[in-house]
Amino acid sequence: MRIETLVPTVARVEEIRQETPDIRSLRLVFEDEDFKSDFAFKPGQFCLISVLGVGEAVFCIASPPQWEDFIEVSVKEVGKVTSAIHDLEIGAKVGFRGPYGNWFPFEENFGRSIVFVGGGIGLAPLRPLIWQTLSKRDRFRDVYLIYGARSVADLVYKDDLKEWSSRDDIRFTKTVDPGGEDETWDGEVGLVPQILEKVSPPSDSVLITCGPPIMIKFVLLSANKLGFRPGDVITTLEMKMKCGVGTCGRCNIGNKYVCRHGPVFTLEEMEKLPNEF
Ligand SMILES: Cc1cc2nc3c(=O)[nH]c(=O)nc-3n(C[C@H](O)[C@H](O)[C@H](O)COP(=O)(O)OP(=O)(O)OC[C@H]3O[C@@H](n4cnc5c(N)ncnc54)[C@H](O)[C@@H]3O)c2cc1C
Ligand code: FES
Repeated sequence: MRIETLVPTVARVEEIRQETPDIRSLRLVFEDEDFKSDFAFKPGQFCLISVLGVGEAVFCIASPPQWEDFIEVSVKEVGKVTSAIHDLEIGAKVGFRGPYGNWFPFEENFGRSIVFVGGGIGLAPLRPLIWQTLSKRDRFRDVYLIYGARSVADLVYKDDLKEWSSRDDIRFTKTVDPGGEDETWDGEVGLVPQILEKVSPPSDSVLITCGPPIMIKFVLLSANKLGFRPGDVITTLEMKMKCGVGTCGRCNIGNKYVCRHGPVFTLEEMEKLPNEF
């Protein structure tokens, strides 16, 4: 499963989608046929993308494993490398390392209800798991998705959202922050943790969340209030990273390296870590 090499392979940008004013998704195809045929990953894992002459940055793999011929990453423009990635055009070549890190439990949750809670670009790591869950839908009880962004313009994966809204095997609630709605908006208006409490999914479900740190903090409090067990509440942490493979010491929290022992942690595990994130 792990391809533990620090040497990047070459990936070609096959498609670019502008998700929001500052987020783009890139569809990448590996040039090396052997790498391509050996490549396997699980939802929750991440990769490092490099732009020659600029640098390297960490992104979660945002497409599900069953989309076999390519992977997608979604990139928010915040600095040097992410701006260079936003400047790429179709046909450009980037370096790719990965997959790295641990992954979300999947088979372990067969027979249970799943609650996905995402905010902004935090839907990126959940997206492969949502599609994977829907591909084995009969193995799960109820599937909830609560997804919010600051405004209608900031919602990512609009085609996916449209499909999930139209399906009756996923209980999808979308929301935008107060003031972020427009005249076309037919979802909720309110912060994601408030909407989670309003939807109030059964507390014996598994809750999986990702979003901005402040959202995660309040989602964890809401999950606790709703009676979820800390071992059933799962998130993925974003720490600054360099190597991605547990050798540089950049990403530690206490004695754990987020790149190696994470990025996926349960609330139960996080409660045992020093509060440095
Ligand atoms: C496991 C993991 C998964 C991630 N997945 C995604 C993803 O799917 N999409 C995405 O857009 N971003 C993701 N990130 C964040 C992404 O790695 C950073 O935004 C990127 O490294 C910034 O690089 P830069 O050179 O553009 O920014 P810089 O020029 O280095 O810095 C610009 C700003 O970003 C901050 N920053 C730099 N690195 C990080 C980091 N690792 N985490 C948070 N802030 C950082 C800096 O402090 C600074 O404020 C992920 C990070 C991790 C650790
Ligand atoms: S990024 Fe180097 S040890 Fe985690």
